[in-house]
Amino acid sequence: MRIVVSGGTGFLGAPLVSLLARDGHEVVVLTRGSHAADSPKISFATWTPNGETGSWASVINGAGAVVNLAGESIAAKRWSAAQKQKILDSRVLATRSLATAIREAASPPPMFISGSAVGYYGPLGDQPVAEDAPAGSDFLAGVCAQWEREAARAGNRTRLVCVRTGLVLEKDGGALPQMLPPFKFGAGGPVGSGRQYWPWIHRDDWLGLVRWAITTPTVAGAVNATAPNPVTNTEFARALGRAMHRPSFMPAPAFALRLMLGEMADGLLLSGQRAVPAKATKSGFTFKHTHVDDALRAIFSRQA
Ligand SMILES: NC(=O)c1ccc[n+]([C@@H]2O[C@H](COP(=O)([O-])OP(=O)(O)OC[C@H]3O[C@@H](n4cnc5c(N)ncnc54)[C@H](OP(=O)(O)O)[C@@H]3O)[C@@H](O)[C@H]2O)c1
Repeated sequence: MRIVVSGGTGFLGAPLVSLLARDGHEVVVLTRGSHAADSPKISFATWTPNGETGSWASVINGAGAVVNLAGESIAAKRWSAAQKQKILDSRVLATRSLATAIREAASPPPMFISGSAVGYYGPLGDQPVAEDAPAGSDFLAGVCAQWEREAARAGNRTRLVCVRTGLVLEKDGGALPQMLPPFKFGAGGPVGSGRQYWPWIHRDDWLGLVRWAITTPTVAGAVNATAPNPVTNTEFARALGRAMHRPSFMPAPAFALRLMLGEMADGLLLSGQRAVPAKATKSGFTFKHTHVDDALRAIFSRQA
């Protein structure tokens, strides 16, 4: 079938596009730039994700699925008021464009897999958090709640799945490469109290979960894309140290991180939630990497 992927050039989107093409699908990537495809199964369509539709919307009509991963990076720049607006608008407007195109299509795609994040729940303590937990009230929770509301505008002619993604682990992007320098210099360790939960997931399992969401007609609504065993930040640091064969006992104090990163330190590093993949587990989805030691060892033992 034809699968349309927005943000299909990113850390999660690019390997998803390759996987779907290998599965035999025809994949159309919606991008703001211009790209050359290296597979006959993959093509690129330029779009302007401004809340409206455009000529690009013709690829949505008759597609088998739409996957929405577009959005300004949340960790690339300090959270000034302007940057926070960009983080919000890029998700809300891109999702509105897609939802409108789906709603207006003569032959709407039967499924719409739209991005979201575990930040939906806001900072929480050590209680496990399944998909039925309410939204939090901090900046990221507000972004995720609005992002999901926009996706719901696609209407009831499509099966909507909002993928509440945790911290995706791989070497070539996402948060992991940014964590490595202190560990390489022997100065790695927990951040802040280290007691905050980090709901991680290996990228291979994230890809598997999206494929499962596409191919399983009973999956709908919010889905936590996190591994079954979230860990505290201290446990994460220890596991990273073990995988890298480096020490991991040097704490990074909260005040220093706040000084360096401002509000972003609390939003991304010093807080978290013990999100668990209740829906995926219940439906029998099999994770390849259930424990963080195993996931990080797999990542760091691989060459290149
Ligand atoms: N990686 C994680 O650990 C993680 C965790 C939780 C949630 N997520 C969410 O999952 C989605 C994909 O994550 P990712 O890590 O693959 O992100 P990414 O590498 O930053 O890719 C996102 C893609 O979105 C498009 N984009 C960037 N800025 C944009 C803007 N201002 N307006 C519209 N489109 C823009 C870009 O595609 P073009 O340049 O081709 O248009 C880019 O390739 C994001 O929405 C992210 O918030 C990721």
